[in-house]
Amino acid sequence: MHFFKEILAKSLAPLVAIDANILMEWIETPPDKRLGDLAFPCFQLAKTMRQAPQAIAADLAVKLTNEPLFKQTEAVGPYINLHIDRKQALLHWLGQMEADRDFFTSRRGAGITVAIDLSSPNIAKPFSMGHLRSTIIGTALANLLETDGYRALRINHLGDWGTQFGKIIVAYHRYGDVEAIKQHPIQELNALYVRFHEEAEANPTLEHEGRAAFKRLEDGDQATTELWRWMVAVSLEEFNKTYAMLGTRFTHVLGESFYNDKMDAVVEELSAKHLLTVSEGAEVVMLDDANLPPCLIRKSDGATLYATRDLAAALYRYRTLGATRLWYVVGGEQRLHFQQLFAVLRRMGYDFADHCRHIPFGLMKIGGKKMSTRKGQIVRLQEVLDEAVRRAREIIDEKNPGLANATETAQAIGVGAVIFNDLKTNRIHEINFSLDQAVAFEGETGPYVQYTHARACSVLRKAGLLDASHDSDGWVTEPLANDATLAELPQVDDITHDLIKTIAAFAETRKRAIDEADPSLIAKHVLDVCQAFNRFYHELPILNAEEPLRHLRLKLTDANRLTIRAALTILGIGHPAEI
Ligand code: ARG
Repeated sequence: MHFFKEILAKSLAPLVAIDANILMEWIETPPDKRLGDLAFPCFQLAKTMRQAPQAIAADLAVKLTNEPLFKQTEAVGPYINLHIDRKQALLHWLGQMEADRDFFTSRRGAGITVAIDLSSPNIAKPFSMGHLRSTIIGTALANLLETDGYRALRINHLGDWGTQFGKIIVAYHRYGDVEAIKQHPIQELNALYVRFHEEAEANPTLEHEGRAAFKRLEDGDQATTELWRWMVAVSLEEFNKTYAMLGTRFTHVLGESFYNDKMDAVVEELSAKHLLTVSEGAEVVMLDDANLPPCLIRKSDGATLYATRDLAAALYRYRTLGATRLWYVVGGEQRLHFQQLFAVLRRMGYDFADHCRHIPFGLMKIGGKKMSTRKGQIVRLQEVLDEAVRRAREIIDEKNPGLANATETAQAIGVGAVIFNDLKTNRIHEINFSLDQAVAFEGETGPYVQYTHARACSVLRKAGLLDASHDSDGWVTEPLANDATLAELPQVDDITHDLIKTIAAFAETRKRAIDEADPSLIAKHVLDVCQAFNRFYHELPILNAEEPLRHLRLKLTDANRLTIRAALTILGIGHPAEI
């Protein structure tokens, strides 16, 4: 409805001398379609125009008849009810969409760099469901921002530093089985970490040993550093398998250790700005004014912390990478940490602190259970993904046994199912993951959306507009929007009008998804598009329709295809042309 609202707002603006953007907010959609497609209440105008709202409505209803989009305008009390001329609407909307005037891309972010902190798993620990959600949501947000002209930096802030490495090193020397570690590095290293905590309960000197080992690492001891490097390497090897499968790319992979030589400067700057207070031997920034507990910067033994590394990282992103907006896609449990981080940056006098944003998300549970790596329960993400792909393959072999590139297609569908399942829920909500539901071809699933896309491709293939197993990122139908064809078309039926409205509204949803940093708006909208298209496909002939209706219906099939494709691309999901 966005375009139609815009036209009404623009037609009204000169008549009432109020900005069209303000008028847009006042336009309503009548609860009963029979009353009209749009309604405009005249109450607010009564003050400025010093007339009764009824009189204003009567006057404007007459003046608005000049706009060809409105078939019928009628004053009902203080309201103007407007019926849209569906053919005019179609013409108008297609013109906009074919020219991509703000439809799939826009330029609101031109010249602005956003750093998106995403994924950021911890070395020597399994890639958790939380890291999966961060990777999926962060990627979708980066894709969304890029459609709006922003430069999006995709930064993997690997957890490769901290006292836990001292603990793992101690456990490695005490209980490590080198062969087992070589076979299943992450699993074994994580088991050592779990073991350390168990043993330390009975033997508190272990904690001390752990701290000493981390100190050796911080001081650059060669043997310790080599061991640490190896842990980083084997962990990355595992993570990269997951990234390859998900199709995740990063512009920067910078672990916490990257900031080791950048932290003294941060501490000095804090000190020069008189922000450091000594508390029980440690250096902290007091945040009482912001109603937050103090932010710990340096421990009494001189060790820096997670927050210190995040401060250095934020300044690096701002100064060196040129980002003026910093987004952090990290689970809700780190809310306080980010509040403190942003409060410290504000206190240091950085204006970009107001453009820092923690983007939290809810837990992903499997079979109703939360997974904890501390206790050693691990859901192997790789296994979930492999299983999803295997099931997608089964369905393909059953539905379309001769499919040419069945392996890639099964991969796109299986992985797409897991991603879509995540992104269709408002990110803040918990997700209960069920593989059965996620890979189903029916219901609100990724495969259903991909299948609808493939169906549109197939129609266009049969019309000779697409060739086998290819799809195109541009229109494959000829432009339709001219008055002569329009005159020959019959009146636009409800099903078609509904499809047009749903597709037309995508442009507004895309911008809203960016403003609210919520890719689920895209996922939900594309489900509506699929539903509208499938109804259109089942109830109206496309290839067998008479011209120019056939041309129109192919055009709408093409528009549907491009919209689903754009949505899937934003979500980071593949769009096979044939399934
Ligand atoms: N590695 C951290 C964890 O798994 C997440 C890091 C998030 N990013 C950041 N800049 N703090 O808990």
